[in-house]
Amino acid sequence: MLVNGKSYRTVWIEDGIIKIIDQNRLPFHFETLNLPDVDTACEAIIKMHVRGAGAIGAVAGYAMALAFKKNSNKDFSDVEENKRKIEATRPTARNLFYATQKVWLAGLEGGYDHAMEVAEKLAEENIQEALAIAEYGEPLIPDGSCIMTHCNAGWLGFVDWGSALAPIYRAHRKGKQIFVYVSETRPRLQGARLTAWELMNEKIPFAIFPDSASAFLMQQKKINAIITGADRIALNGDTANKIGTLEKAILAQYFDIPFYVAAPISTLDPSCPEGTSIPIEHRSENEVNSLMGWDNQGKEISVRLTPEGTTAINPAFDVCPASLIQLFITSQGLIKPEEISKKIKNAL
Ligand code: MRU
Repeated sequence: MLVNGKSYRTVWIEDGIIKIIDQNRLPFHFETLNLPDVDTACEAIIKMHVRGAGAIGAVAGYAMALAFKKNSNKDFSDVEENKRKIEATRPTARNLFYATQKVWLAGLEGGYDHAMEVAEKLAEENIQEALAIAEYGEPLIPDGSCIMTHCNAGWLGFVDWGSALAPIYRAHRKGKQIFVYVSETRPRLQGARLTAWELMNEKIPFAIFPDSASAFLMQQKKINAIITGADRIALNGDTANKIGTLEKAILAQYFDIPFYVAAPISTLDPSCPEGTSIPIEHRSENEVNSLMGWDNQGKEISVRLTPEGTTAINPAFDVCPASLIQLFITSQGLIKPEEISKKIKNAL
């Protein structure tokens, strides 16, 4: 993706140091962060300097490889402890666990060099999968469509290109006229801050809307299709994604609007038989009680919204039953929910 004419990935490695675009500084400040070790990488994931299933998967993979560099213990217990630390950062996105496991096995087999080689390969695969999603998904977007999306499942949520936004980017680059409705995505506003910034960079016309306006927009017949990403897909096709996705899927069925979920194969989880076994992250009350922003000097500020002492509930994801999903747009083609378990078993 181009930023001010320069091509960037969201996550990359340089001289053995993990580099990320700091997503907590966007959309007003484009800055990169260095993550030289497991601890800084874990902190970046927990505090969401890097976020999005694909992107945290890539950072987790690189961090797992770095853990082998420092290993002083022949039985790998230090590395295993670091694996646990990385896996404790955020529970829901399957891609994180997929990456740590693959890189862990590679490191046991061939040490740091092999672990890093596999981490790099996974990051590269992440880009290739996103490109395949773009290709398979683009025909679902007719010229002149208005597409609704939620949260940020674009370039910043992956190493490049994204999942839900990848078909939209491809359709637009092919010359199709598209308009994107982006829900703000309270409480962290990934839609308003990140997806808006991405679409602006790509010069795709869009509008953000309050999460609570989804039903109104669908009822007004303004939406031709909804495309979201996914954080974890169970064997039966139930899908965890950013909180608010379930509501949109239910509404889509009511208003007879196609609801598509775009995801790479690494998001499918063979160990989850159904949605109820997907772990859901609950985040701090502060994210709901306050709003984070920047002052004129670019300093981060937090504005309190609710009376002191207010209790807030902050589940970060919800689970959409497979029956509400029309099609999965995956890196291996368009898949019906009832066929997803076969695909999961074949792919992994
Ligand atoms: O909490 P986040 O921002 O890491 O949430 C993950 C997401 O970005 C979304 O749920 C997305 O739709 C799928 S992952 C690109």
